Order: sequence, then structure tokens, then C-alpha cells
Amino acid sequence: APARLEYSVADLSLAEAGRHQIRLAENEMPGLMSLREEFGPTQPLRGARIAGSLHMTVQTAVLIETLVALGAQVRWASCNIFSTQDEAAAAIAVGPTGTVENPSGVPVFAWKGETLEEYWACADRIFDWSAEGFDGPNLILDDGGDATLLVHKGVEFELAGAVPDASESDSAEYRVILDLLRGSLARDPQRFTRMAAELIGVTEETTTGVHRLYELAAAGKLLFPGINVNDSVTKSKFDNTYGIRHSLPDGLNRATDVLIGGKVAFVVGYGDVGKGSAEALRGQGARVIVSEIDPINALQAAMDGFQVTTLESVLDQVDILITGTGNTRVVTLDHLMGLKHLAIVGNVGHFDDEIDMAALESLPGAERVEIKPQVHEWRLPNGRSILVLSEGRLMNLGNATGHPSFVMSASFTNQVLAQIELFTKRDQYPTGVYVLPKALDEKVARLHLDALGVKLTVLSDEQAAYLGVPVEGPYKLDHYRY
Ligand code: NAI
Repeated sequence: APARLEYSVADLSLAEAGRHQIRLAENEMPGLMSLREEFGPTQPLRGARIAGSLHMTVQTAVLIETLVALGAQVRWASCNIFSTQDEAAAAIAVGPTGTVENPSGVPVFAWKGETLEEYWACADRIFDWSAEGFDGPNLILDDGGDATLLVHKGVEFELAGAVPDASESDSAEYRVILDLLRGSLARDPQRFTRMAAELIGVTEETTTGVHRLYELAAAGKLLFPGINVNDSVTKSKFDNTYGIRHSLPDGLNRATDVLIGGKVAFVVGYGDVGKGSAEALRGQGARVIVSEIDPINALQAAMDGFQVTTLESVLDQVDILITGTGNTRVVTLDHLMGLKHLAIVGNVGHFDDEIDMAALESLPGAERVEIKPQVHEWRLPNGRSILVLSEGRLMNLGNATGHPSFVMSASFTNQVLAQIELFTKRDQYPTGVYVLPKALDEKVARLHLDALGVKLTVLSDEQAAYLGVPVEGPYKLDHYRY
């Protein structure tokens, strides 16, 4: 008899509600559903053991079940302590044919509102394949690079033979990681080393995780190849921009229900995420101000009609402050102290240090009042309050349910294609960081046209010859920026 399914979710009885949402999402995710049709019969991921670390939402449930439909075995955790939709996690554990009494889905370790200790314990469990009879996974599907980091740190400390003591400057989160790896090393001093040898590679979802991968590669420390899914055009130019354009106002509304129209909104960073944020806020009638450190992005923002200036210079006017840079401490304690009474502060960049939450949390005389989960009033010693969303973590996932299905279908179709690439063409991907070939990027877009009623113009032979491209594509050179 198969071993009992391993899982840790908030409430398995939410599975039916989750299944209904998954069913509706499938209708909005044509890319993933057509991959099931195209690759279901040939099972290209048979033998793949995927450790997934990505927001456990309804859309991710459709991704997981697509990987399974292509033959993969999967273990899953969320990549953020607040981003899990508990009904989606329950439905994934129960599975399409299981029951609450007898769940038969995918081992999933995720619930909304994990502590940091619980978060990293869940991350660890996606690497424990003993129930399946293996040392570990052979693929990672990552969002933000935490799963990849755990393996790299694990190997580093195993090679050193010890986990170092935390230093003064280490964050609370890094101390949790050190403790976890200390326990792992004591139980099995070769665990991550053996695992790394089995790992074919990682496919990375987001800007921040991709940044970490290129850094590891540049330092000569990358242990296995990575596919940069984020820089598929059909990912970052769609999910990061049009996804946030939907889910940022969704998060603001669910958290505060404050009228956005007429307010002054400030967006820190005008990259892909910042562009979608600024457009959404302007669309609601806010007067939007943008800051940038890059002259090209600053000029873009200006040409798009936004005032571009520093946060300091307009601080006392700002009603809604949004960060989306992927950088650290772009909003400092001084900024927070200078805001208007009950200004709203939210981050949509990957990690919580964009806003200096650590400094706020250790500010003498500051008091935190919970309005509701993931919405906190901080009473400051200057007599004013600010409203901080999702404790400074991704508020579009913490206060709402992240990007909608259709745009995630494009992102996740890239993810599945990247997993197939790594698993079936190992010899073509020596250790390094790659983007998917343009033909696949165009394929992802093509798979989403019919659903929107898009009728594509077909190149004539004469035109194709004139441009020097095949009639069926790819149409652009790699450096084209769209
Ligand atoms: P990007 O690189 O396109 O844009 C970031 C921009 O911030 C750049 O233009 C950079 O010049 C600017 N920037 C950096 N430091 C700054 C500072 N101190 N002040 C003002 N501007 C500054 O990156 P992208 O794709 O927009 O991603 C940004 C972050 O959002 C990343 O952490 C990414 O992982 C995350 N992300 C979050 C999503 C969500 O659902 N919330 C979706 C996709 C990405």
C-alpha cells in the first residue's frame, strides 16, 4: 500500500472550495491546459522529482497539476509566509480524485501566516524525498531563490564541516536558516551534497531570484544550471506589469478600502513592476509620483506623464507609498517618520527589507495595533500613525490573492517548458544561467491569443524573405526589447 500522503495545510476541509476555484482557473489558463494536451501522451517529465517553492495559490495549483499530468512527482511549499491560499493548498493535498478522509494529491507544506521557523521547515520538507524512496529532488522550481539558497548554503556548510554561529549583522531570518542547517548537518553531514549531485537544475520565476542566480554564477558558486524564466518576454513584460496592475489595487482595496482617486500615490522604482503599479494607481485617479535611480527608467516615467522626484522631497504629501524595486531599504525609518497621518505603506518587491521594517520594529515608543491580519497600524512616537500592509512583504499576495489566472498562465507555461528543457535536454545546459529560446517565448504568447479573440496576421513569403525571418518565427533578434 502507498505510504500516507505527507502534507501540512491549514484545513483540509477547504479542499472543495479550492477545487471549484481551480476548475474556474483552468478555463483562464489556456497555456497550461494546452501543454497538458500536447505533452500528456508522451509524459516528458516522467522521472522528474520537482521541489517547488512558489506562492501556493489557485494558479499555482493549476501549475502543479500540469507538472503531474506530464509525469512529474512533486513536493511543494510556498515562497512567502503570507501568500498561500489555504483552499488551494487543501485542494492540492486532497487531489482531483482524493477525499478529505483519504487525500491522494501532492505533498504540500504551506498555509497562510507561517512563522519564519515554519516557513523554513516547509522549505526543508520539499527536499525530503524519503517517503518516495529518494535522497532528494532532481529539479527545483523556485520563486525568489530561497529553495536554491537552502541547497547552496547546505552544501557550503557541509563542505566546511560546520555551520557558523550567527553574527551581529545577520538578520533574524538568516539565523533561522543557520539553525535549520545546523540540525540537518548533525543528522546527516552529506545530505545537501548528495542532493546537489542529483540536481539537474532550477527554473527561477522572479527578478530577485534571477538576480541571486547570476550572482552565484559570477562568483563561480552555482552548483547546477538555472533557467531564468523571469526574462522570457511573456513572463516579465506581462506578469510583472499587467499582473501587478490588477493585484496591487486588489491588495489595497481588500486591506483598507480607501478611495484611491484623488490621493497622492508614490511608486518607488519604475521597472516592470513599478510600471504596472503606477498605471494602476493612475487608472484609479490617484496623482502618481515615481522615483528611480536609473536615468533610462526615470526618463520613461517622465515620458509616461509621471512626476519623477525623490521620496524625501514630497514625503509630506504622500497618501499611498508603494515599493517595487527588488532593492534593500529604499524606504527608511526617516521616510516612515515623515509620512502623513495614516498614510498607507505597501511593498510589492520580493523581500520585506525594501521598507526598513527591522528598524520600525525596534523603534522605541512605536506601537503596533492589528487592524486585521496583514494590516497593522503603527503608532509612531511623533504622534502620527502609518498603515503597514503584510508586514512589509508582497502585499498583492498577502492582502489579496496575487495575480489573476490568465497572466499567470503565461508565466507558468514558461515554467513548465523550462522544466521540460532542463529535464529532457540536460547536455544542452551545462552549469550556467539561461533564458528560454525565443521560439518558446513566442509559443507561450501564441497559446494565449485564441482565448482573447486575437487574430494574428500571417507574413507573406515575400515579406518573410524581405525581413529575413521564417514565416512561422521567431520574428525578432534576441536583443529586441518589445
Ligand atoms: P526591474 O529591475 O524591472 O525594476 C526595478 C526598478 O527599481 C529598476 O528600474 C531600478 O532602477 C529601480 N530601483 C532600484 N533601486 C531603487 C531605489 N533605491 N529607488 C528607486 N528605484 C530603484 O524589476 P521588476 O521585474 O520590476 O521587479 C521588482 C521586484 O518585484 C523584484 O523583487 C521582483 O522579484 C518583484 N516581483 C514582484 C511581483 C509581485 O507579484 N509582487 C511580480 C514580479 C516581480
